[in-house]
Amino acid sequence: MKVKVCMGSNCTMLGAMNLLDQIEDLKDIIDNDVEEKYNDEELDIEAVVCLDYCKKSNTNVAPVVIVDDNVMFNATGQIVMEKIMEKKKK
Ligand code: FES
Repeated sequence: MKVKVCMGSNCTMLGAMNLLDQIEDLKDIIDNDVEEKYNDEELDIEAVVCLDYCKKSNTNVAPVVIVDDNVMFNATGQIVMEKIMEKKKK
């Protein structure tokens, strides 16, 4: 699973760094949890430069996180975690 966290200035100002930390913590938990029967797919986390969503939209979309092909605007730790866990269980 590929997770991209936008680290452009708009997203960073609105908490992208914190989100990145939370996702990395979750990755550690998943990697160390031998009890759970998740599939073996790696959680690949990448910090990316501005994805231009903030420039194309008239409303605030930051922070932006992409989990595989799902673009999430105004991402919060909880929403991103839920999406990752939901996809891992499939
Ligand atoms: S700074 Fe994140 S979409 Fe532009």
